[in-house]
Amino acid sequence: MSKKVKVLIIGAAFSGDLHMDGYSRCRDIAEVVAICDKDLSRVKALAERYGLKDYAAYDDYKKAIDEVDCDVVDICLPNFLHHDVAVYAFKKGRHVISEKPLATTVEDAEDMVNAAKAAGKKLYYAEDWVMAPAINKALQFVEEGAIGKPLYIRARECHSGSHSPFAQTIKYCGGGCMVHLGIHPIAFVLGLKNNKWTELVAMTSGGGENNLLHRKMEGEDWSACIIRFEDGTFALLEANYVTVGGMEDVIDIYGDKGCMHIDLTFSSPIKCFSIPGLSYTVEKAEITTGWSRPAVDEKFNLGYVNEIRHFMECILKDEDAMVGLRGIDGYEALKVANLIYKSAREGIRIVNEKK
Ligand SMILES: NC(=O)c1ccc[n+]([C@@H]2O[C@H](COP(=O)([O-])OP(=O)(O)OC[C@H]3O[C@@H](n4cnc5c(N)ncnc54)[C@H](O)[C@@H]3O)[C@@H](O)[C@H]2O)c1
Repeated sequence: MSKKVKVLIIGAAFSGDLHMDGYSRCRDIAEVVAICDKDLSRVKALAERYGLKDYAAYDDYKKAIDEVDCDVVDICLPNFLHHDVAVYAFKKGRHVISEKPLATTVEDAEDMVNAAKAAGKKLYYAEDWVMAPAINKALQFVEEGAIGKPLYIRARECHSGSHSPFAQTIKYCGGGCMVHLGIHPIAFVLGLKNNKWTELVAMTSGGGENNLLHRKMEGEDWSACIIRFEDGTFALLEANYVTVGGMEDVIDIYGDKGCMHIDLTFSSPIKCFSIPGLSYTVEKAEITTGWSRPAVDEKFNLGYVNEIRHFMECILKDEDAMVGLRGIDGYEALKVANLIYKSAREGIRIVNEKK
């Protein structure tokens, strides 16, 4: 393999942009050679935004995977397409990066993990929280013993609703806010605890007419889960679409000698009061007037930049990703998301049989 990883990005909308930003910051080891989206105007706009000139544009993912000389296919498509595109890419001998959640069903996620194994290729799972600098710094302090023995974690991703039309139906999304947003806190705590959970109990709004706010959305717009781990500690995981004012990505860790609060989206060093408003503050903020905490480098803070570099380094060494960013981690997170739904639907406590 040449010294630069050749990348084919499939999906040129929101997450395609997040990943493209990551590639633009590791041009020393990665080169985006092609972009595919069924809407070619998005391909063009994405390339232009990042000054990419020498690339191939496609509107058909199979044709792109067949024709493009690339090492990895980076899937930034709606959830229901991750499985089919990944399996096709593995059959054609490419590594795969998949956005979260890994798939819309546990069966599809397992199939992706198996297809990677059968092809002798790697499946990388794009969980940006694992690479968020603030989280990693905080975990270093925890490791040093700064808060003593960690006992309890509270973690949430919440905002006012997905921009994607595909997030509205269970068939295309795999669920509501827990699978779409809550998959971040789920994957984060599972990574920390090496997937060793023992029991969980959950509640969600009912979807559709039984939602708090989003009555046209098939999946739930509010959800919470309490999960217990083999080491006896607990986590409270939350995801909802009823949070206005911008996206909240918040983690609190309580130990027997201290506590730690991590705020990925509202901890900017800039504090601004604006009557006319700013051009941008933070993801999903409805307004930018009045007081705000505009992000200095949102994509870096949320972990996307480090995540993409990590994947590129792994591919150059033909290695799997670190714990939390492997296909198997995406699979485990999706399994837990689906058990959260089972617990909420049936009003039951779920015990992990495999522990
Ligand atoms: N890690 C994160 O924080 C994060 C943030 C946002 C989105 N995501 C994930 O990224 C994925 C994409 O989300 P998004 O918000 O960018 O989606 P989106 O719905 O905004 O865009 C998806 C893009 O895929 C294209 N597309 C749809 N079907 C296609 C097909 N058959 N062939 C080629 N192109 C096709 C659409 O034209 C569109 O440009 C989702 O899985 C989502 O969960 C992750």
